[in-house]
Amino acid sequence: MIRLIDITKKYVNGSNELVALNRLNIQIEKGDFLAIMGASGSGKTTLLNILGCMDVATEGEYYFENIPIHTLKQNKKDEFRKNHIGFIFQNFALLKDYTVKENIEIPLRAKGYGKKKREALVREMLEKVGLAEYEKSLPNKISGGQQQRVAIARALVSGASIILADEPTGALDSSTGQDVIDLLKRINRDDGKTVILVTHDEKIASQANHIIMLKDGRIVSDGDGFCIEKKLH
Ligand SMILES: Nc1ncnc2c1ncn2[C@@H]1O[C@H](COP(=O)(O)OP(=O)(O)OP(=O)(O)O)[C@@H](O)[C@H]1O
Ligand SMILES: [Mg+2]
Repeated sequence: MIRLIDITKKYVNGSNELVALNRLNIQIEKGDFLAIMGASGSGKTTLLNILGCMDVATEGEYYFENIPIHTLKQNKKDEFRKNHIGFIFQNFALLKDYTVKENIEIPLRAKGYGKKKREALVREMLEKVGLAEYEKSLPNKISGGQQQRVAIARALVSGASIILADEPTGALDSSTGQDVIDLLKRINRDDGKTVILVTHDEKIASQANHIIMLKDGRIVSDGDGFCIEKKLH
């Protein structure tokens, strides 16, 4: 379970201060599928980056299974990210000179896994995302939907339990985008992964278990009231 308590993120630029997240409270259960919506600049990416320890909050507390992530030193935060978090981006963010297989292998190399273990895990992921016959292809030789599936495989390969997806269908046509969402739904349902997805597309958001709407760094609506602030205090 993830709990954010009174998370504030401020960006200071000279004498200007911008509040990207404003005392945000949220609780996300393990195995949930959450969609985050909101206008451009409302704080969606900032929230994902804090959840994924790519960025730190200015104030507030972040708990993952009762571990106070906000108190960890940078190397422990990096360890938490490597062990638990997988990111997926709108533009796939694959390394263009690396094959499909090599791209998926990157997090395993970062963890120092040997060749045999890497090969077995990559093969399993290639099967899971349906790209076994593309392992030697370069990213620019496969479709956008296939590239995003490679990115999903890379996000999952080292055993992440939380998938953070920042507009993962934004660069895809709607039918290919739906295939990517179907894959995320499958790993959520069958493997119990927690999926937190930013999207501008209501049709996609409506397939999540919950939707929260951000405005000016605050949650303005959470359809079914699952993360109402008073529950946390
Ligand atoms: N590194 C930064 N320095 C200064 N301001 C920033 C920085 N990153 C984000 N911001 C500001 O914080 C606010 C929230 O940005 P964020 O990227 O989280 O929005 P978003 O909801 O993801 O928007 P979009 O839908 O356009 O991706 C915006 O006003 C943005 O300009
Ligand atoms: Mg964004």
